[in-house]
Amino acid sequence: MSVLAGKELRIVGFLCNWCSYGGADTAGTARAVQPTDLRIIRVPCSGRVNPLFVLKALINGADGVLVSGCHPRDCHYSAGNYYARRRLEMLKQFLPVLGIDPARFEYTWVSASEGQRWKDVVTNFTNRIHDLGPAPKWEDVPAIYDLPKTLIDPARPLGCGEHPSLPELKQALKDALAEGLEGVLGWKKGFDAIHAEPVFMTTPEEIDELIWGPFNVHNLAVYLPQYKGRKIGVVVKGCDSKGVVELLAEKLIAREDVKIFGMGCNGTVSVGRILAKLPEGAKIDAVACRGNKITVTANGQDVEMTMAEVAQDKCRVCMHPSAVLSDVFVGNPTNAPEGDVDGRSPALRFLDDMTLEQRMGFWKGQMERCIACHACRGACPMCVCRDHCVSDARDPAWITQEDTVQQKLFFQLIHAQHLAGRCTGCSECERACPMDIPVFALKQQFGRMIKKIFGFGAGLDVNATPPLLTYQVEEPTIEERELA
Ligand code: FES
Repeated sequence: MSVLAGKELRIVGFLCNWCSYGGADTAGTARAVQPTDLRIIRVPCSGRVNPLFVLKALINGADGVLVSGCHPRDCHYSAGNYYARRRLEMLKQFLPVLGIDPARFEYTWVSASEGQRWKDVVTNFTNRIHDLGPAPKWEDVPAIYDLPKTLIDPARPLGCGEHPSLPELKQALKDALAEGLEGVLGWKKGFDAIHAEPVFMTTPEEIDELIWGPFNVHNLAVYLPQYKGRKIGVVVKGCDSKGVVELLAEKLIAREDVKIFGMGCNGTVSVGRILAKLPEGAKIDAVACRGNKITVTANGQDVEMTMAEVAQDKCRVCMHPSAVLSDVFVGNPTNAPEGDVDGRSPALRFLDDMTLEQRMGFWKGQMERCIACHACRGACPMCVCRDHCVSDARDPAWITQEDTVQQKLFFQLIHAQHLAGRCTGCSECERACPMDIPVFALKQQFGRMIKKIFGFGAGLDVNATPPLLTYQVEEPTIEERELA
């Protein structure tokens, strides 16, 4: 018998009003003897259980969380539990990346007449949590501040030379302006030669300043929703085009309003990796790109580096280097790598090799460094309600003003969970982070679970419905676990 026998743990239960709450009531009325650890929160339907409820409970110290609703086909609102099943299964498979044992969370179905089944469910789940013991506390795990150091070998050739089709692209943009387009989103040289800057070009002279190459790091799809209803163009790399596709699929922009211009991409740089090769505080005078080599002139000295040394991680494993959707595509498409490519970010690979406790320590260390600037949210093309973000809400207050690991991690979880099945993998959140926190790993973990369970990848099909916005009555890829 567990040494904790007789000692209560903190287990939170979300029970649907129409079935499971009635089942618990039936068990109580029948005076069925059950453990008393469960703290029940009554919800209208299991479909009302936002996965963030579960995450909030678990990262704030709950030892276990149980969700219970009506059996499939019996939901009072017809389909609430079908949606819940998809979300909760995805959530369960997501938890390990945070260092939370997925056994600490379960979902099940109990009807109002199933008092005995409720008793079995709550007894078995409580026993399981007692076997696991109290959940590890954030203050007890050692923080891990390390980041992966090894660079991933590029799965395709990376280059940075002048794109031969740039003049042709500029001409196509000028023609589009002459035909009535209000303006085109692109990039121009920024405050120095290794920084590009997004620009909304409305004149041929501005189009002459358009640049294309390894410094065009920003995903311009992020700006499209603010031009909704206006006829504009956008220049895209492959990863940007996936953002445009997802915005179209979710009807956040209209197809007839946006003209998409693409060219093949040979990879973009991590500005941080370039700066790391230069003397600290060096003033950059010029950059020359040829083939796969970049020469940065800083403080009057030439420093040579290769694209393989300084490319962004996502470009090393990119499977869509050319636009997946375009109205005008200039030049030859860039070939995608052949065969299977391990698309995991370095941080996700790092996390995959860790124990649960180490993962918790990893997020503790990373979130301790977070300054809550929310640049990750600002750079994300799919974070479309940023002016009304729930993380800023005070009623209900999802996040407090406390400067704690839990609050900062919970913001990241809100972001990641809202992107589940929608994130196109551009990793702009991570690029924008001034503290180099690998927050993309959280989105990638959700994306990987979505792929595994539903075989879905976001940003590839304007007619696709994200898997969490639909359901099947029978879910062949979800294997539910029986608690009773
Ligand atoms: Fe019970 Fe929907 S009402 S799960």
